[in-house]
This record gives sequence, structure tokens and C-alpha cells, in this order.
Amino acid sequence: MSESNRRKVVVGTSAAEATSLAAELFKATVCEATDSRGTCHVALSGGTTPHALYKQLAETCGYGELPWEHLHIYFGDERDVPHDDVESNYHMVQKTLLDHVPVAPTHIHPMPADAEDLSVAAERYEQMIRQRVPAGDDGLPAFDLVLLGMGADGHTASLFAGTETLDETSSLVTACFVPVLGRNRMTFTFPLINSARIVMLIVTGSDKAEAVSKVLSPDEHHDNLLPAGRISPKGSFIIVLDRSAARLFTARATTK
Ligand code: 6PG
Repeated sequence: MSESNRRKVVVGTSAAEATSLAAELFKATVCEATDSRGTCHVALSGGTTPHALYKQLAETCGYGELPWEHLHIYFGDERDVPHDDVESNYHMVQKTLLDHVPVAPTHIHPMPADAEDLSVAAERYEQMIRQRVPAGDDGLPAFDLVLLGMGADGHTASLFAGTETLDETSSLVTACFVPVLGRNRMTFTFPLINSARIVMLIVTGSDKAEAVSKVLSPDEHHDNLLPAGRISPKGSFIIVLDRSAARLFTARATTK
């Protein structure tokens, strides 16, 4: 494990071990938040790597294993499809995790990325977050945990290279057309992501090694800064990798 003052890199010897490490960190975060503050506000991500984590949590942390009743679930991004569509992040999380653990339905907040007016829907989702998620010292909602995945192109949430959402400084949730996908997405912006107490980025697979190396060891001119390279939370930044994804990462990242 390598650490800077707020950044911790944890490397599992396999994707399965990285998923287990992420599950342990997820459980510790939830327990610490509910012990300290009585509730835990978590924003989840789509993707196959987060999917593996949700599956493990559902299989190993059933009733009584975690204070699920104190958990409030949000979504860091969503595709422009109905919530019962197999492409929906909410649909994936519901089938993989939420159908198997006792999170109160009123504590689950799907992101309306298939709304008629996406800008209005994004504003409303942001207002809901501002009302429900306790603010940090800077007045911004501070999630107890924002879970993120990363694509091989370095995108995270639905923040893709070359889109203006990367540079958004005032809106906390925004809707955008993503040219590389040819689709609309709704997503947290970096001001909201970086306001979190803890951001956990989980990345596995050798196809992500190049992006991991650029994100964790950007050159001093930052001219190769990928979207995930902009993650810089006020709280802790935990990066969970498997050996394949970490293979080009230059810092000392010892395997657990
Ligand atoms: C999505 C996610 C996206 C995902 C990454 C990693 O809507 O797909 O929010 O940011 O986390 O693309 O996905 P994989 O783990 O499947 O590579």
C-alpha cells in the first residue's frame, strides 16, 4: 500500500482480491459513518468492476452484517434509458445489490437520466442532494463515500475527455451529450465528487494499466491529465487496483 497524506493505493493480486479489498473498505466506511453520524450517504457507479463489488456485498453482507437501514444510496452517473432498462446503472445496482439487502426504498435515489428535459432533471437531482446530504465546511454536500470506476480512456462517472462537463465549476450534477458514445448522460461533476469525505476508485484489468499510470503519476505539466486525474477529494482518496491494472504504476504499490 502506498500513501500520500490523503491518497492510498491498494493493490490486490487478482481482480477477485481487489474486489474483496474494496468490499472491506466499503464496509469500514459505512460502519464508521453510521457510528459517527448516524447515517451514511453513498453514491454508486455503473460498470462491470463496481458490479463485482456489489455482487460480493450482496453475497457477504446480508441482514445484520452492515447498518443498511442507515444507508442512503445515490448514483454518480446514469445512462439516458429508463430505470428498468438493462443498460441503466440503477437497474444493475438494484438487481445485483439492492434487491438483496435491507436498504429502505425511500433511501434509494435513482438518477432521472431519461427525463424529457435533462437539464431540469439534473438541477432537481442536485437540489435533492443539497437537501439530503450534509454539507462540508465549504457548504457543498459531502458524501460519506463516492464509489467510482474508470474506463480504459480514463473517464470516470460520465466525465469523458473533450467534454465541457470536465471544467464545470458551479453545477454539482449536469446532463451532457457524450460524442464518443453518441448518447446523453447525467453525471456528478468534479466539485461534487471532490467534496466527498472518501472517494474510492476501483480499477482492474491490464487494459486500464496505461490510464492508471497516467492518473496516478501524471507528468509535471499535467498535459496528459485524464478525466479521472481530476479526482482530488478534500477527504481520502482510496484507489483499489489489481496487479494487472497497477503494472505500469510507478509508485511503490505493494500487493496486499
Ligand atoms: C458507467 C460508469 C462508468 C464505469 C467505467 C468503468 O456508467 O458505465 O459509471 O464510469 O464505472 O466505465 O466501467 P468498467 O468497470 O465496466 O470498465
